[in-house]
Amino acid sequence: MKIAITGAGGQLGKELTQLFNNKDYEVFPFVKHQLDITNQAKIKQMLVDIKPDFLINTAAFTEVDQCETELEKAYLINAIGPYYLACEAKENKVKFIHISTDYVFNGDKAEPYIEDDVPNSKTIYGKSKQLGETLALAAYENTTIIRTSWLYGHGGKNFVNTIKKLASHTQEIRVVDDQYGCPTYTKDLGIALEKLLKNRMAFIMSRTQEVAAGLNLQLKS
Ligand SMILES: NC(=O)c1ccc[n+]([C@@H]2O[C@H](COP(=O)([O-])OP(=O)(O)OC[C@H]3O[C@@H](n4cnc5c(N)ncnc54)[C@H](OP(=O)(O)O)[C@@H]3O)[C@@H](O)[C@H]2O)c1
Repeated sequence: MKIAITGAGGQLGKELTQLFNNKDYEVFPFVKHQLDITNQAKIKQMLVDIKPDFLINTAAFTEVDQCETELEKAYLINAIGPYYLACEAKENKVKFIHISTDYVFNGDKAEPYIEDDVPNSKTIYGKSKQLGETLALAAYENTTIIRTSWLYGHGGKNFVNTIKKLASHTQEIRVVDDQYGCPTYTKDLGIALEKLLKNRMAFIMSRTQEVAAGLNLQLKS
């Protein structure tokens, strides 16, 4: 199975690249300077050249505070980028998986959010990611959106590593106590993602076998 990954220099992108490489998939990781997701022509070229089964987008402008002042950049990377990826994935018949965030919600709900809750972000980061979801789904019905939260992985810029670093040279650490979230280990997300890819592949193979049987064709698995 061929898997192309955008944003492969980031926390999640690195984890997925390593995880899938270890499992013997054909992995094509692209860091920002190799493939800018705001460059539609480059995306097209990459998909035509590689013809992956799946395109996974982990690229994003994730600096939540900076998004508030750099609106144009936030919307370009977090909304237009996924739209271009979805359009080109459709054109090239590649299944598209786009990583999104719990920031699409405003955080006012007392219980955990579920998939059917209506996005209503207060932040530019959340609004730009929300628009990215909407545009990608509108452009291509074979888009899967995965909303994750509080990602932490090895070497990444995240809460766990920040506290670890502070703890190594400070006796007392002061942290906010009014934020609630669900920390997600990048490796756990990778394992769940792999299950999703396999399930979707199995479903496609079984449908292909059914159609082939209808046409009286023999397929090699
Ligand atoms: N981190 C979290 O807590 C969290 C929580 C929920 C959801 N998410 C979502 O999960 C996904 C992965 O997050 P992450 O923690 O791995 O983020 P990350 O470490 O910031 O990685 C994002 C990567 O995207 C790259 N990038 C930025 N603009 C790009 C562009 N135009 N074209 C191609 N690549 C570009 C970045 O490169 P530069 O660094 O060089 O700009 C970076 O390598 C994102 O969609 C994010 O919204 C993250």
